[in-house]
Amino acid sequence: EEDPRIHGIKTKIRVVPDFPKKGIMFQDITTVLLDPKAFKDTIDLFVERYRDKNISVVAGIEARGFLFGPPIALAIGAKFVPLRKPKKLPGETIFEEYELEYGNDRLEMHIGAVEAGDRALVVDDLIATGGTLCAAINLLERVGAEVVECACVIELPELKGRQRLKGKPLCMLVEYR
Ligand code: PRP
Repeated sequence: EEDPRIHGIKTKIRVVPDFPKKGIMFQDITTVLLDPKAFKDTIDLFVERYRDKNISVVAGIEARGFLFGPPIALAIGAKFVPLRKPKKLPGETIFEEYELEYGNDRLEMHIGAVEAGDRALVVDDLIATGGTLCAAINLLERVGAEVVECACVIELPELKGRQRLKGKPLCMLVEYR
């Protein structure tokens, strides 16, 4: 059954209708961050799951994977690597493209940040179509890392994003239907 902390986290997620455009119910996690207990519970649930899994790198996806990834990485003793939107990283990078509703976007990663044999956890706030996490998995696998799992606070299960994760497991705390 469900960990009692999850209900508290769920109540702190703010749903904003018609943002950023009409018809989208935006899942706003900034209201989780406003509540130290809910924020800590979120981090703790992931830390408890991953602390003994030999994770060597936490890869966080811009932008909101940068809020949850670093505290998890610090607590489990892993390095943190940002996966960023185009032209943000100053060093040499590799990139993976993914599809948006209109057009394409890409995620970039610094060469050398992740090495062959690294055991990776990918962190983001939310999985919708799974395209973003799929690009993240591809980046990590291209440099020889093993993606152990993906972790998100929120899943929109109706979009079936899980099916795009190349067989990698997904751990999420809250479903939104
Ligand atoms: C959101 C969310 C995930 C992604 C999930 O970010 O934070 O990163 O979409 O969607 P998907 O599963 O369909 O790929 P967004 O694209 O809004 O970018 P942002 O973090 O820069 O605001």
